[in-house]
Amino acid sequence: MDLQGKNTVVTGAGRGIGAALAETFHTRGANVVLADLVGASDAAALLGGDRVVGITADVSTEDGNYRLVESAREVFGPIDLFFANAGVGSGTTLADTPEEVWATAFDVNVHAHRWAAKYLIPEWLERGEGYFCSTASAAGLLAQIGSGPYTLTKRAAVAFAEWMSITYGDAGIKVTCLCPQGVNTEMLHGGDDPISGGNVVKAAGAVLEPADVAEQVANTIEAETFFVLPHPEVADYTQFKAADPDRWLSGMRKLQRRVLES
Ligand SMILES: NC(=O)c1ccc[n+]([C@@H]2O[C@H](COP(=O)([O-])OP(=O)(O)OC[C@H]3O[C@@H](n4cnc5c(N)ncnc54)[C@H](O)[C@@H]3O)[C@@H](O)[C@H]2O)c1
Repeated sequence: MDLQGKNTVVTGAGRGIGAALAETFHTRGANVVLADLVGASDAAALLGGDRVVGITADVSTEDGNYRLVESAREVFGPIDLFFANAGVGSGTTLADTPEEVWATAFDVNVHAHRWAAKYLIPEWLERGEGYFCSTASAAGLLAQIGSGPYTLTKRAAVAFAEWMSITYGDAGIKVTCLCPQGVNTEMLHGGDDPISGGNVVKAAGAVLEPADVAEQVANTIEAETFFVLPHPEVADYTQFKAADPDRWLSGMRKLQRRVLES
């Protein structure tokens, strides 16, 4: 997809990876709606001009997603590309994670993708085109040491993106799924919603800048391929895991012991 002139929506665009995605799409000529619980208008003002709008939105409910899709359509017209990027990192073990933390993780990291798609797909099927993107995580292909909610919800996000591609690909709908390891954002560095095991992520490989990740995403969208793996070693780990699951699990337990001992 050529991003020039395309109507795009990015959730979680108030900061971090979402803000970088919005900026990159804008630079490549897209009209961009930046949506977030907080900071959407400020992030939009930083980009400036009449091809950018910030909308305060809570994607943790079905109604929040419905209203976002409707508002975005009112701003620029039919949506060409929707990027479900907003995410939460909270949650740890079974004993230490309250039910409401599990619920929020599933609402924001998984159900938000499904709810947005529910209100996008009918129009896209009529038009015979549309582009759905999501930010999952390398944790969705592998695991997040120390966080049950993050591991489960990111795995589900990858599964949902794959299912979307399988189910609607022949009808002209494209899907791309972003699965990074460490990216230099507040989530990794312990802001208001730090990810459990963030130190493991930092130790596991390069911590990339959001702008560099966003460039790779835009290139992948232009090429219309499925995965964005900004850390190429994640593809190797995934193959290793599939080839020898017991050895992979044993290696992950060893990594966890090192983390607990440090
Ligand atoms: N930073 C990393 O190392 C890393 C690695 C892999 C995947 N990710 C994923 O990347 C995505 C972006 O995260 P980030 O690193 O930029 O973190 P971040 O915390 O800087 O940004 C997340 C944004 O999502 C917004 N958000 C949270 N709940 C929301 C809701 N209910 N409605 C609307 N917006 C909401 C927050 O306000 C925030 O602006 C997330 O899905 C995250 O899980 C991050």
